[in-house]
Amino acid sequence: MQSAFTIPSFLFLSLFLVGLVPNAKLDTATKKMYPPFWDQVSGEITEFPVKDNKTIINMWNYTDRLRMYKILITQTNKYFVQFGSNDSGNVLWALALTYGKLYKTGRFSDPSNVSVCAYDAVSPSCISFNSGWGGTNFFVIVLNFLAAVESKFLKNVSHEILLLSPEKHKHDFCFSIEECRKSFPHAMDEAKKFYQYLQSITPASTVNSVSVYNTSEDRATLLLWKAYRAAVETGLSKFNDVSWYSSVPERKFAMDILTLMEFCETTIYRTNFKNSKAFLVGFPRRKLKDGEDKIQKTDFKMREKAFLASTKFISSLNKMTGGWFLVAWKLTVESSELRYVLGNFFINTLLLIPIIK
Ligand SMILES: *[C@@H]1O[C@H](CO)[C@@H](O)[C@H](O)[C@H]1NC(C)=O
Ligand SMILES: *[C@@H]1O[C@H](CO)[C@@H](O)[C@H](O)[C@H]1NC(C)=O
Ligand SMILES: *[C@@H]1O[C@H](CO)[C@@H](O)[C@H](O)[C@H]1NC(C)=O
Ligand SMILES: *[C@@H]1O[C@H](CO)[C@@H](O)[C@H](O)[C@H]1NC(C)=O
Ligand SMILES: *[C@@H]1O[C@H](CO)[C@@H](O)[C@H](O)[C@H]1NC(C)=O
Ligand SMILES: *[C@@H]1O[C@H](CO)[C@@H](O)[C@H](O)[C@H]1NC(C)=O
Repeated sequence: MQSAFTIPSFLFLSLFLVGLVPNAKLDTATKKMYPPFWDQVSGEITEFPVKDNKTIINMWNYTDRLRMYKILITQTNKYFVQFGSNDSGNVLWALALTYGKLYKTGRFSDPSNVSVCAYDAVSPSCISFNSGWGGTNFFVIVLNFLAAVESKFLKNVSHEILLLSPEKHKHDFCFSIEECRKSFPHAMDEAKKFYQYLQSITPASTVNSVSVYNTSEDRATLLLWKAYRAAVETGLSKFNDVSWYSSVPERKFAMDILTLMEFCETTIYRTNFKNSKAFLVGFPRRKLKDGEDKIQKTDFKMREKAFLASTKFISSLNKMTGGWFLVAWKLTVESSELRYVLGNFFINTLLLIPIIK
């Protein structure tokens, strides 16, 4: 709690100094930010094997989930061409980049044995079904993907989708559109709204023979955050026991992320490639260990400490005020013409704090 209180003073200082922090190194990091093996998957649903008229997706295989992300990005790119070159304006990048980050930081490995489903830079690994991060991410990609199929947003789906999961954990997950809809109607609906929104917009103009849709970036981003948070909430409510994580602080970090997401959602924090990349720079490069409650004493880098401290700060603040912090924040930014500018500035600043220190 104490560290949560020390932060505001840096915050106000940093509001003045943040403009001075150099941004130069960001571009060299772009390539590295793509999820590992991104270029090795095609973004076509036909890449999945078909058995007995069913498209089979192994949810515990890193590559298979990556394919689902790439299909969604590939199929949605056309709605976002006006928001950045090389499809960097697609609002779904937040999901894909976070997925890659979770893999790279070893969060899909087994909580009790880090060498099971460890990050492998040479050949894609597995996702441990004992990992709370892996379990929560299951809902993020599955609910998005199945909602895209259910709404008929995805066109090339000629077979029923069957998701594979181990027998032992069958009751924690869902395996088909029918089943996921039945078990998680709210989260499924939130995801569906995003794809239905995309279906509702139309090409408004043509630039260099490319159709430009009349997409509202705010609307798409907000709907994505809502879908994202509903999925994470579904996952975290199942994987909230410490046994799903490698340590008590790691579990706490995972839980606190939800409040940070709510904060971002209210703010409509941009989820395009550039912003997602900047957002994730400080995502801690390894799982937290027991005893690492005091962030300042760990060997994490400054930006990682900033990320951890911000997550903890927002969550503590919200808890201390009985949830009123987020309500007040919501009222403040929603009624402001400067919602986007204000919120994004605030979040970017928050994620830089220990640098100022
Ligand atoms: C697969 O579907 C097609 C067309 O719906 C049908 O003709 C065929 O018998 C099915 N095959 C199997 C193995 O169920
Ligand atoms: C453009 O995007 C592709 C993947 O979507 C990536 O492999 C490539 O490096 C990007 N190019 C630039 C210049 O960023
Ligand atoms: C962890 O998993 C690896 C690979 O499966 C195995 O060789 C090793 O013995 C395991 N270690 C422990 C402590 O269970
Ligand atoms: C994941 O699936 C691919 C094929 O889709 C396969 O080549 C690879 O060996 C699988 N990886 C693991 C770790 O099971
Ligand atoms: C459907 O799949 C075929 C074959 O992979 C591909 O040529 C076509 O472009 C796909 N259509 C869409 C809408 O993605
Ligand atoms: C986009 O165009 C469609 C049809 O022309 C219209 O119904 C819709 O309201 C437009 N959306 C925006 C955000 O302008």
